[in-house]
Amino acid sequence: MEKIKSAVIGCGRMGAFPSDLMKKYGPYCWFPLSHIEALKELKNVSVESICDIDSALLKNASEKYGIKNIYDNYNNLFSNHKIDLVSIATRTKERFEIIQAAIENGVKAIHVEKPLCNSMEQLKEIEFIVSDNKICLSYGTLRRYLNIYQKAKDMVDSGKFGKLLQIQVNFGESALFWTHPHSVDIILFFSEGRKLEAVQSNLSNVTLTSKNSVESDPLIEQASMYFDEGLVGTISKIPGMDVILGCEKGVISIDSNGSQIFTKMENQGSPYFEYSDNLITDSYSGPQGTYSAIYNLINNMNNKDYKNNSYIFLGQRVLFGFVDSHLNHGKLIEIESISNEISVLGKSGNLYS
Ligand SMILES: NC(=O)c1ccc[n+]([C@@H]2O[C@H](COP(=O)([O-])OP(=O)(O)OC[C@H]3O[C@@H](n4cnc5c(N)ncnc54)[C@H](O)[C@@H]3O)[C@@H](O)[C@H]2O)c1
Repeated sequence: MEKIKSAVIGCGRMGAFPSDLMKKYGPYCWFPLSHIEALKELKNVSVESICDIDSALLKNASEKYGIKNIYDNYNNLFSNHKIDLVSIATRTKERFEIIQAAIENGVKAIHVEKPLCNSMEQLKEIEFIVSDNKICLSYGTLRRYLNIYQKAKDMVDSGKFGKLLQIQVNFGESALFWTHPHSVDIILFFSEGRKLEAVQSNLSNVTLTSKNSVESDPLIEQASMYFDEGLVGTISKIPGMDVILGCEKGVISIDSNGSQIFTKMENQGSPYFEYSDNLITDSYSGPQGTYSAIYNLINNMNNKDYKNNSYIFLGQRVLFGFVDSHLNHGKLIEIESISNEISVLGKSGNLYS
């Protein structure tokens, strides 16, 4: 069978060279992490070409992964190769134009890093061209594709813990565009089947260039997502990278960035929950890391499931909703009423998220 022809645009940390911090501390379930590593492991995929504007990085990636076709301009890459699947690991600022160019050049599937884009206007355009051209997408918010988070979701869905009341994401004092696309997607993943109604937030480090245009990458002091039937998703400042699923009859905690799951349950009428001895770890089973996201993407591509993208668009919309809420003094913003004028550049120092 003919292989799916792929290309990677952006050969930095996520594209080709995972950070030393992740290599040292990342739980097993996060690897292979870089886009090139993940694509090289997929048997039905060939990595035809890679692109980066940094010639030294491009050369290193070419030598490390044995990929001969290298480009410093993605338009030339698309002109010279018929690509089915493109993986985009640049920073956000370039993303919108790369997505447009990829779709214009006949790409059918895109794995794209988070966040998706810089403005509500870009978001609406991407939603339109993705749906109009029947493009399959997967996203850099990897946890939803990882086995250990899926196991926790199975536990919630089993009903054994009772109704899910609150999803709390503890990712420390972190930035809206750099870290919290993950937090929002975790909340959307565990709240599947519930309708998101409104969002609310309080941010700091907000630098404006005009009324609705944020230049910085704001910190989330506190943010909430409100669903139907009383479910609340909260983003706290507590460090540790734990996700806590509070249910009527118990608590499920996915600890330390997916290293393990702890559970507590009600016990014989006591008002206090008791820890279970059953510790679940992230030991290998099924696809992991960025491989799992692209594996999922290829399944959708093969099944012609083009509609499996809505969590990506909704997650990005929520990030803009948090900004809208903050700019309106922490007002509750209905999800359908987010201002079309909101934009976020996500600048930190000289870099963009
Ligand atoms: N999924 C995750 O867990 C995760 C983790 C870290 C970062 N990220 C996201 O991944 C993205 C990349 O982060 P990073 O740390 O790898 O950044 P990076 O700066 O290490 O890499 C980005 C690369 O894109 C290249 N680039 C810029 N413009 C380009 C263009 N026009 N054409 C081709 N290449 C171009 C740069 O030269 C650089 O090598 C960010 O948006 C970040 O938010 C995701």
